[in-house]
Amino acid sequence: MNIYTNSDSLSLALSTYRDNKKIGFVPTMGALHKGHLSLVQRALQENDWVVVSIFVNPTQFDNAGDLEKYPRTLKEDIGLLSSLKGTILVFTPEISDIYPKKVVSKQFDYGGIEFEMEGKHRKGHFDGVGTIVSFLFKIVQPNFAYFGEKDFQQLQIIKKLVQLEKFQVEIVGCPIIREKNGLAMSSRNKRLSKEQFEKAAMISKTLEEVRKKFKTHTISQLNELVKERFLSNDSIELEYFEIVNEKNLKTAKRKHKKNTYRGFIAAFAGPVRLIDNMPLN
Ligand code: PAF
Repeated sequence: MNIYTNSDSLSLALSTYRDNKKIGFVPTMGALHKGHLSLVQRALQENDWVVVSIFVNPTQFDNAGDLEKYPRTLKEDIGLLSSLKGTILVFTPEISDIYPKKVVSKQFDYGGIEFEMEGKHRKGHFDGVGTIVSFLFKIVQPNFAYFGEKDFQQLQIIKKLVQLEKFQVEIVGCPIIREKNGLAMSSRNKRLSKEQFEKAAMISKTLEEVRKKFKTHTISQLNELVKERFLSNDSIELEYFEIVNEKNLKTAKRKHKKNTYRGFIAAFAGPVRLIDNMPLN
């Protein structure tokens, strides 16, 4: 496993690796967990080489405290990646490599999906994601790039970005990997106390309850149900719950047979913000 700390050295290495081979790419912000490893393993199965980037991208954070506290565990990350079988190129750039002049995002018009859910609550988040992912796609030029469905809205944003920027890459969405208690795996889980970790299981349990009741309940009944579940729990605070049409991520007010719906939750366990989602029909 080789580690590249700047884009010139990675580009040079990739020019020798490319030669009719398939390159898979898994962009991450580090603090790797089994969810990330499942993406890397899939990429290794489907490609000749896999690039894993580890970079905590400042422009996608709308909160300085969250950026500062984001877990950084490079040594452990490298250890986890080197335990996998296959050729992995790890890219760990410096901020000045990605943002040589100013640490600012480009702006993207994703056709409206950027204003739903995470976009409402984290201003500029998806411009930051688009900026870094474009940069990385230009250097890596992967055949396939792998993203987890935990960030389902991000996955749709990336698909749109690929169309906008005409990147020759296939985006592969991969299932959410969960802890034993149902909590969606996330780098942010590392910041939870043992108690918060246990209590946060109510997020996926609530989504599961919504999924089971989706056929028999109206959307407004389900919205009420979720509010109640969070009100009767004093450790996890709901930021938003939405049932949306999977196609355009617009909030659903009532159900139509032809549409597919997904439930989304963002909630706080103390200062730690967690997100999760589940298909409902
Ligand atoms: O999902 C993430 O970890 C990040 O948003 C990504 C795609 C690596 C961009 O910084």
